Amino acid sequence: MIKTVKSVDLKDKRIIMRVDFNVPMKDGVVQDDTRIVAAIPTIKYILAQGAKTLTLMSHLGDPAKDAEKAKAKAEKDGKPFDYDKYIAGKHRMAPVAAYLQKKLGKHATVVFAGEDGCKGKKAFIDGQPPGTVIMLENTRFHKEETSKDPKELDKLAKALAEYGDIFVNDAFGTAHRDQASTASIAKFVPVSVAGLLMEKEVNYLEPIVTSPKKPLVAIIGGAKVSSKIAVLESLLKNASALVIGGAMAYTFLKAQGKKTGKSMVEDDQIETANKILAAAEKAGVEIVLPVDHVGAEKFDAASKPVKIDNVNIPDNLIGMDIGSKTLEKYKKVLATAKTIVWNGPVGVFEFDAFAKGTEEVAKLVAETTSKGVITVVGGGDSVAAVNKFGLASKMSHVSTGGGASLELLEGKKLPGIEVTRARDCYIAGNWKMHMTRSESAALAKDLVKSLKSGKHKYMVAPSFTAIEAVGEVIAGSNIILGAQNCAAEEEGAHTGEVSVLQLKDLGVRTIIIGHSERRHAYKEDDELINKKVKLALKHGFDVILCVGETLEEREKGKLWAVCKRQTEKGLADVCECELSKVSIAYEPVWAIGTGKTASPENAQAAHKFIRGVIAKLYGELAAKHIVIQYGGSVKPDNAAQLMAMEDIDGALVGGASLKAATFTPIAKF
Ligand code: PGA
Repeated sequence: MIKTVKSVDLKDKRIIMRVDFNVPMKDGVVQDDTRIVAAIPTIKYILAQGAKTLTLMSHLGDPAKDAEKAKAKAEKDGKPFDYDKYIAGKHRMAPVAAYLQKKLGKHATVVFAGEDGCKGKKAFIDGQPPGTVIMLENTRFHKEETSKDPKELDKLAKALAEYGDIFVNDAFGTAHRDQASTASIAKFVPVSVAGLLMEKEVNYLEPIVTSPKKPLVAIIGGAKVSSKIAVLESLLKNASALVIGGAMAYTFLKAQGKKTGKSMVEDDQIETANKILAAAEKAGVEIVLPVDHVGAEKFDAASKPVKIDNVNIPDNLIGMDIGSKTLEKYKKVLATAKTIVWNGPVGVFEFDAFAKGTEEVAKLVAETTSKGVITVVGGGDSVAAVNKFGLASKMSHVSTGGGASLELLEGKKLPGIEVTRARDCYIAGNWKMHMTRSESAALAKDLVKSLKSGKHKYMVAPSFTAIEAVGEVIAGSNIILGAQNCAAEEEGAHTGEVSVLQLKDLGVRTIIIGHSERRHAYKEDDELINKKVKLALKHGFDVILCVGETLEEREKGKLWAVCKRQTEKGLADVCECELSKVSIAYEPVWAIGTGKTASPENAQAAHKFIRGVIAKLYGELAAKHIVIQYGGSVKPDNAAQLMAMEDIDGALVGGASLKAATFTPIAKF
């Protein structure tokens, strides 16, 4: 879950906020203010809460790259090139600050912090009267902003972090960039949260990939299959139908052996198109391709539209838009949806003569919104189309991000969003070697009902023999299917072991590794545990790595050394990019199944220590985000006190997870 401005106290705080004011400019005049207007609710909210100062930062264009291009052109044309003159009108933030002042009117005074860059502005900011909005110069005037070197990124991020007690990221359009002002800054401010625009974007776009209201129908258009492969694959998981339009449809038609005339076809993507068609068939997802077209002899706005009443396009024509029969087909499919996501136009809508298909799709989607369907438009070109036809306000959500919305739909984690994520409260049930298959299924059935309205993250790990039955019961619920162990090898002569491949086949998503009962009763050592962790991650599982000291170790003062060793060795060779799939369970061995629980303070101290170990291994940001559960005689009457501690992010529950009557109150504490 992301944490937003609404969850923190903003009164008298200095706020540093990243916005995406990368608006089109011409001669210093704002051409399209969509992104500025979209940030205003957050700005007004922050001011209304009594923030001391609100400092805004944004990039505008790509000054260094553009200047280089302009310089090369000038050199080629034999003309002089003046960098300052070139930069002056195009990339300066002052006109944007003035525009924002106009938009905010009497709500606030906007001051521009000066053209000499973003650094060294603390005194200027702190000297402003309460409630002032300060606009910094273009962040990309500093080469560190977009550097690939983490040290460079941190240099600028530290300077920017000086301006705020709280970092607010409302720049959805730049959320896919791992840059100083979008992500690195979060390492150096005490609190990082999302703005209201970011919240809205995430709330609409993320569920399409994780848990959409079904049936989900996706309309994917645009020119190139190559730029949409990842999104098509990601949508196949949840969609009932994929409507494919735009030039990319011709590549699919050619893959099916249809004639595509002079249409734009990516021949090197035919194989990909075939793979996607096969994957869709396997997943039972209907693929809707054009059955007729509007063509032209030339790719030109002035070309005469030619009706092609057939799926095959004659040799002399280019496909430019979908035909009326195709639209009828679209209409039928869209009528089945409860959620529609649209990314990419279905024809050359920039040319009026070929805009009809895209306009009609926009109208169809808008109509379904009024019938209660969730409609989300993401991606630069389809947003431009919706705006062109004046239908933006008729959609549930029109994204302000092009690349960012596409990457989110691809199921990727976006750096600018991740820094605002609050740690999940993760409650897991370890059923150990208890219950038969039918008893397990019955408990799962009760939990599906009782946890339905639960707000936390839930997992149950039945015994191997019950995994399949429990998996069937919890499918589609908010409970994740887990396993209690896995073998350290993929397959082979390992009598009595269960492999990750077999667990995957059963739909298991999470594996508990290194439980103290495995460490002590079955003599699993750190090396073996590390091997299992790496194997599970390699196969895409989430992992709960258990660590914790015995009573003897505790009494000998070895608690810290044991936790450090087990964490470090358990995660050896696990890269930072995989860490989001790992949570740790601190389970003092003397508390497991004994009825003795660590006091909240003692448990908190151990959790804080383990987080420190993670910080040394992976850095502060990773440590801030890793979930650390407590395990060891968690019961309904001690769960809330434990989970109230700052570094305790949930529980791994054994005994009390065997009955819905005891697990539910823990899970819903
Ligand atoms: P317990 O078990 O809750 O019964 O102490 C915890 C665990 O083993 O994970």
